[in-house]
Amino acid sequence: MEQGTIIRSIGDYVLRRVNEEDIPSVVSVNLVTLPEHYSDFFYYELLRNFPEGFIVAEKGGKIVGYIMCRIEYGFSFFKFNIVRKGHIVSIAVLAEHRRKGLGEAMMLEAMEAMKKRGCEEAFLEVRVSNHPAISLYKKLGFKEVRRIPFYYRDGEEALVMAKPL
Ligand SMILES: CC(C)(COP(=O)(O)OP(=O)(O)OC[C@H]1O[C@@H](n2cnc3c(N)ncnc32)[C@H](O)[C@@H]1OP(=O)(O)O)[C@@H](O)C(=O)NCCC(=O)NCCS
Repeated sequence: MEQGTIIRSIGDYVLRRVNEEDIPSVVSVNLVTLPEHYSDFFYYELLRNFPEGFIVAEKGGKIVGYIMCRIEYGFSFFKFNIVRKGHIVSIAVLAEHRRKGLGEAMMLEAMEAMKKRGCEEAFLEVRVSNHPAISLYKKLGFKEVRRIPFYYRDGEEALVMAKPL
């Protein structure tokens, strides 16, 4: 599948793979939705490394949400061995487009892409106070596997949540 390919529609929205030209819009969504920001280089690097795991939600040509992921190797959260894991690095939907199923759909598509890349597990970090996101991840079968105190710059603790794929 090429960059920019439409994956599916949800009402007036489409989910599609990211193009390099989309990165500035993705950065804009990140800036207004999350306190965690990244260098431009980081976005292009994720796109280069795992393009199928970098998906946007778009309506009328405007990007309203994104998910970006990375493939990693490391200790399994569920078994005693080293596995290939899909790391959900960041996901966000603009406030006025939430609760329409976009976050869930982007997660499901990203996890399909991880499976196709041979990942056995998916995982992510989330602020302990982020109830909407934690509800979304629980709905998709993610479980808390550990906590990391002071993970975020403001000192908040992170939940690490993971799910076998
Ligand atoms: C988390 C986020 C991406 C969810 O996106 P979304 O498109 O609104 O999510 P969906 O509409 O697909 O919701 C799917 C499910 O998640 C749960 N959920 C989502 N928002 C919720 C909320 N505000 N309260 C409770 N549950 C919620 C529900 O179970 C929901 O299913 P339902 O609508 O059938 O009840 C969105 O709230 C967001 O961008 N938040 C700011 C950025 C952020 O916190 N990102 C996560 C960082 S780890």
